[in-house]
Amino acid sequence: MSTRAQPAAPAAMIDSLRAAFSGRLITEANDLEPFVIDWRRRYFGRALAVAQPDTVADVAAVVRWCAAQRVPIVPQGGNTGMSGAATPDESGHAVVLSLARLKKIRAIDTINNSITVEAGCVLSELRDAADQAGRLFPLSLPSEGSCTIGGNLSTNAGGVQVLRYGNARELCLGLEVITPDGEIWNGLRGLRKDNTGYDLRDLFIGAEGTLGVITAATLKLFPKPAAQITAMATVATPHAALKLLEQAQAALGSSLTAFELISDLCIDLVLQHFPDCRLPFAQRSPYYVLIESSDSEGAEHAEAQFEALMQRAIEAGLVDDAAVASSLAQSRAMWALRENISEAQALTGKNIKHDIAVPISAIGDFVEKTNALIAQRFPGIRMVVFGHLGDGNLHYNVSPPVDRCGPEHEAEFLALQPELNLITHDSVVAFNGSISAEHGLGQLRRDESARYKSPVEMALMRRVKQALDPLGIMNPGKVLPPA
Ligand code: FAD
Ligand code: MLT
Ligand code: ZN
Repeated sequence: MSTRAQPAAPAAMIDSLRAAFSGRLITEANDLEPFVIDWRRRYFGRALAVAQPDTVADVAAVVRWCAAQRVPIVPQGGNTGMSGAATPDESGHAVVLSLARLKKIRAIDTINNSITVEAGCVLSELRDAADQAGRLFPLSLPSEGSCTIGGNLSTNAGGVQVLRYGNARELCLGLEVITPDGEIWNGLRGLRKDNTGYDLRDLFIGAEGTLGVITAATLKLFPKPAAQITAMATVATPHAALKLLEQAQAALGSSLTAFELISDLCIDLVLQHFPDCRLPFAQRSPYYVLIESSDSEGAEHAEAQFEALMQRAIEAGLVDDAAVASSLAQSRAMWALRENISEAQALTGKNIKHDIAVPISAIGDFVEKTNALIAQRFPGIRMVVFGHLGDGNLHYNVSPPVDRCGPEHEAEFLALQPELNLITHDSVVAFNGSISAEHGLGQLRRDESARYKSPVEMALMRRVKQALDPLGIMNPGKVLPPA
């Protein structure tokens, strides 16, 4: 149940929307709640209604109605975003446009190696459809059971296979989009090459719903690897993990599909909240890496390569202990240690997230330097560091000191966020990095981005927004700070 009352829905507006759109409309306060609060419970919005169209024509009808009435539109997929970008503001004026029911697989072309799906298709269902057609769709996130491809493209999601296959942008061949005035742009060309002017597709990818509504996408498929092998190794520092990455790249080449770093505190949190999880090592270590190789020659070949890699790394003193999964169950158990970190951290209470990218080679120095700055300013604060080391992207998250974890300390801890962000992000930028690698700006990083982007970059972004959405109805208050 909501702790906040929703204002009574303006009946005349709802009636007018109902007349324009025959699909599912949610207007009851209790039913609205899951759509107006983000999963981390950091943003609490209100909405006039949630529209859940089943067809592209109905999406266009909702957008046209909103444009005519000057009603803000907040597109929403699985509502798993990290930056509050799918949550409406508190005014109660916006329509949340949920794409959840627009989820058909339209076509699979195994010669073109492409799949065309509607925006609300859940990522794991899309991966399953590709699998059934004998192909791989490689985008893979811990949230894949709930997030949608429309949300993935709108946030340019990354995940655990970017190292080999790229992020959502690189996997997209074409889009179908409803423009902010309700027109349908069909850009669903499954082409690998198309140099015919400005790249509109790339404008909508990563735009977090501020330029239009994605209704469908054509995406790249890949051959399924003959075998996927997972291994974990213990390392003393991120510097050692980087050296191991270099060795793994040399040994495995393009078979290396994931290289994730996990600090010991992450393991603590996961073991505490997911009692079925097991660490495959007798001794704890300050850091662990999780490595995955997708081999075209089969499991035996991959296992032998991994064994040799780990042996060399142990002899070189980079790795203290290593475990290679010898069954699917063991591989899943290793991934569970990694994929449950976000949820485990959330279960321990409010936390402060940083989704940073620096050049891969700078990760070790970044962690060492920034850890020291934070420890000096906030003694006792706990760094929950993990993420996609192979992409130079870390979730450099922060939890309160052990003795200040309860709900009674939440406000005091969250009050540290501006200063923690400043220390972390100034450090990121000193290393030529980015303050949002894969989670977008949304509401969370919107204002900070102005500190780190040049005036020229901000002005160009504003001109793009003005050109595509002159009424300013598409997800207002996200990405761009108020002028
Ligand atoms: P939503 O949260 O619903 O929306 C996100 C943004 O996209 C909003 O701005 C929304 O307005 C816009 N949007 C949604 N659908 C459309 C559409 N059809 N047209 C236009 N705009 C739209 N992210 C990563 O990148 N990598 C990770 O490894 C990762 N791990 C995660 C792990 C967990 C446990 C969780 C909970 C989240 C994780 N995320 C990760 C974040 C999140 O899952 C991604 O950002 C995902 O891409 C969001 O998809 P969604 O469908 O939930 O989008
Ligand atoms: C993940 O990779 O698990 C998420 O993107 C990280 C997070 O919780 O910050
Ligand atoms: Zn991530």
